Amino acid sequence: MIIESPLDLIFRDIFYRVHGFCESHDVFLKLEGFNITGSIKIKTAIALIEDLENREIIQPEKSIIVESSSGNLGLALSLVCAVKRYQFICVTDSNATRANIKGMELHGAKVIIVDDRDSAGGFLERRFNVIEQLLQSDPNVVWLNQYANLANKNVHAQQTANEIACEFERVDWIFVGAGTTGTLCGVSERLRQEFPGIKVVAVEPVGSVTFGGPPGKRNIPGIGTSRRPELADLANPDRIITVDEETTVESCLSFVRDHHLLVGGSTGTVLAAVRQLAPEFAPGDTVVAISADLGEKYLDTVYDAAWVEDFIVTEGKMVAQA
Ligand SMILES: Cc1ncc(COP(=O)(O)O)c(C=O)c1O
Repeated sequence: MIIESPLDLIFRDIFYRVHGFCESHDVFLKLEGFNITGSIKIKTAIALIEDLENREIIQPEKSIIVESSSGNLGLALSLVCAVKRYQFICVTDSNATRANIKGMELHGAKVIIVDDRDSAGGFLERRFNVIEQLLQSDPNVVWLNQYANLANKNVHAQQTANEIACEFERVDWIFVGAGTTGTLCGVSERLRQEFPGIKVVAVEPVGSVTFGGPPGKRNIPGIGTSRRPELADLANPDRIITVDEETTVESCLSFVRDHHLLVGGSTGTVLAAVRQLAPEFAPGDTVVAISADLGEKYLDTVYDAAWVEDFIVTEGKMVAQA
């Protein structure tokens, strides 16, 4: 394989068949973590930038792209903007992994880290305040707004869903972690056309407000929101499963131990949801779950016992007592 650009490093057909994950059922885990920049978000980043290019809204060397990201989209955009010669400013927060922040900087992005939480226990409101200031500071600043941008949904209908449809004759269950819900909306829209009986399961952490749960502090980046994203109006999941962060950590650790792949935090959440719904699977059902990234960048958080004790176990007890 000879590539012409790092942006060609997108691996569309890797599915890990996890034998007997739920006793009588295998689970097919669509692995997106081998893509360049390590996550599914490289597809989103390319799509968001190409959409603005096609509409002649941005110009290389002139436009300044800004985006709010918990890390993975920020890193992906840093690379895309470096290759295409746009300045990029990422507004992220203190839950972002060190690896992602360092990676963004190495690709030439400016990174602004917000560390005061909003009233919903997250950072989105604060991140949006910073973006508002940036937009007012310079007419060349363009905000991608992945939370409302249809290009974020469409890329997953055209790419991620079709990659799944190409691999399987039938899919009965699809499990998707929800952040902006771009993946969820795009994948479900397209897969429902292909497999009308499919059950779409949206997975989010306890404390996320996207599907109406009470707000709460979350520590694992990638999924969940402290403000409902506009795209979620297009999501129509058959089931919504909420997983607490302690269960997510256990799920990640047991997956490494039993299935030998170091998965990212949101993948642990999605796998915990698969286990929760397993009693509902019919014999012969094909179960697919999307793994948005791998675990190396979470070695000093999700996979670090002291961090888990401080941020998840102790805080969880405090919340339970309050
Ligand atoms: C690790 C991880 N999992 C899941 C998601 C959720 O994807 P989406 O924003 O399409 O809902 C993201 C988004 O950044 C992510 O980084």
